[in-house]
Amino acid sequence: MSELSNRRILLIDDMPSIHEDFRKILAPPAAQSVELDEMEAALFGAQTRPQRPLFELDSAYGGEEGLGKLMQALAEQRPYALAFVDMRMPDGWDGAKTIEHLWQQDPQLQVVVCTAYSDYSWDELLERLQAHDRLLILKKPFDNIEVQQMANTLLTKWQMTERASLQMHHLEHLVDQRTAQFKQASEELQREIDERKQLESQLVQSEKLASLGQMAAGVAHEINNPIGFISSNLGTLDGYFKQLLSVLDAWQTLGPMPDSESVARLEQLRKDADLDFLLEDIPVLIRESKEGIGRVGQIVKDLKDFSRVDTQQQWQWANLQQGIESTLNIVASELKYKADLIKEYQPLPDIECLPSQINQVIMNLVVNAAQAMGPERGTITLRTGQQQDTAWVEVADTGAGIAPDILQKIFDPFFTTKPVGQGTGLGLSLSYGIVKKHGGDISVRSEPGVGTTFRVELPMRQNRPAA
Ligand SMILES: Nc1ncnc2c1ncn2[C@@H]1O[C@H](COP(=O)(O)OP(=O)(O)OP(=O)(O)O)[C@@H](O)[C@H]1O
Ligand SMILES: [Mg+2]
Repeated sequence: MSELSNRRILLIDDMPSIHEDFRKILAPPAAQSVELDEMEAALFGAQTRPQRPLFELDSAYGGEEGLGKLMQALAEQRPYALAFVDMRMPDGWDGAKTIEHLWQQDPQLQVVVCTAYSDYSWDELLERLQAHDRLLILKKPFDNIEVQQMANTLLTKWQMTERASLQMHHLEHLVDQRTAQFKQASEELQREIDERKQLESQLVQSEKLASLGQMAAGVAHEINNPIGFISSNLGTLDGYFKQLLSVLDAWQTLGPMPDSESVARLEQLRKDADLDFLLEDIPVLIRESKEGIGRVGQIVKDLKDFSRVDTQQQWQWANLQQGIESTLNIVASELKYKADLIKEYQPLPDIECLPSQINQVIMNLVVNAAQAMGPERGTITLRTGQQQDTAWVEVADTGAGIAPDILQKIFDPFFTTKPVGQGTGLGLSLSYGIVKKHGGDISVRSEPGVGTTFRVELPMRQNRPAA
C-alpha cells in the first residue's frame, strides 16, 4: 500500500474486557486470524486472503486518556484513522463528549460509537455531533465479522478521504499556479497594449509632423508667389513714386509766370518719366498687389479651416465639401504641375465628424493621387455623394495604379513603395484608423496603368454614448 496506508485504531472504553475482545478480533494471533478469514470466506464466499493487513490497536480507558493518545499521535504525525468509542463511561467524559474533543483535534478521524443502551437517541447524537458522514454505530454485543469489516471499510475510507484532500490541495495549488500565470500573461498583454497605444500615438504624432512639413512646404510656395510679386510691385511703385516726385519738384519750382526754358525742362522731365504710362500702370500694380494679399489671407484662412486649431479633436457637424476645398487649397502646389482637378460634388448635409482628421484623410488621398502620376499630366477626380445614412467621398486618379500583390499591404503602417525620404508609409494606415474611428470604411479599386480610386464612407451621425 502507499504511504497513505494507515492501520491505526484507538479504542476508548472503560471496560478492560472489551479491550481484550477487540484485540482478539482486530489484532489476533496468526491462527485466530486464519480462523476469522475462513469464517469470512464461508459467510461471503470470498477467497481467503493469504495475508490480512494487521491493525495497530491502541487502548484508552477513558475519554481524557483517549484524547491524550490522539494528540500524541498527531504530534508524532502518526494519526489514528479510526476510533471505537464506548458511549457509556461513568467516570469522566461520556462517549459524545469524548468524540467532540477528538474531532476538535482531528476532524479526519472516523468514529464508531459502541453502545448497548444509550443516554441519547441516535438522532440526538447526530444532531449534537454534526458529523453524519464520519460516525457509525455498533450495537453491543458485537459481531466479530462486523467489527472487522467496519474497521477495514473505515480505514479505507480514511485513506480515500486523505488522498482526495491531497489531490484537492494539489489541484488548488495548480489553480493558484495557473491563476498567477494568467495574471502575469494578462499584465504582459496590458503592457503590450499600452506600449502599442503609445507607439500609435507617436506614429500619429510623427505623421502629423510629416504632413505638417509637407503642408508647410506647399503653403510656403503658395504664399511665396504673391509675396514675390507684391514685393516686386512695391519696388516698381517706389521707382514710379521717385519719378513722380521729381516731376512734382520741378513743377513746384515754376513760378507763377514760368519762362519758356523752365516749361521746356518740365516737359522733358514729364516725357522722361513717362507720366502717362505711370498713371496707367500704378492702379494695375496696386490692384494686383491687393489680390496677392487677398490670396495670402485666403491661404491663412484655409490653413485654419484645415487644422481647425481652435476646436481640434471635437466632434462637430461639418461640411465635407468645404473641408475638401480648403484641403485642396493647401496642397495646391503639389497638384498644380501634376494633374487637373475635376470635381463632381453632389450636395451633402453636414456630417458629425472630427473635421481636421477627415481633412487629413482627404489630404493623404489627394497627395498619394498626385504622387502616383508619371511624367504625363493626369487628372484627379473628386466625387462626393450620399447613400442613406452614409456620406461618401471618392478620390480617383489616372496614375500608375497598384499591383494586385501589394494591394492588401497598402494600409499597413510603414508600407511604402516611395524612395527613402519621400514616403513614410503612414498616410493610409493613419487614414484607415481615422475612418474606423468614425465608424466608417475605406476601400480601394485599382488597375495598374489605368488608375486608382479610393472611396471613404462615413456615417452621417455618430452613435456615441452621451458625454
Ligand atoms: N493613388 C495611389 N496610386 C498608386 N499607389 C498608391 C496610391 N495610394 C497609395 N499607394 C501605394 O500605397 C503605399 C502606401 O501609401 P501611404 O500613403 O500609406 O504611404 P506613402 O504615400 O508611401 O508615404 P506617406 O503617405 O507616409 O508619405 C504607397 O507607397 C503606394 O505604393
Ligand atoms: Mg501617402
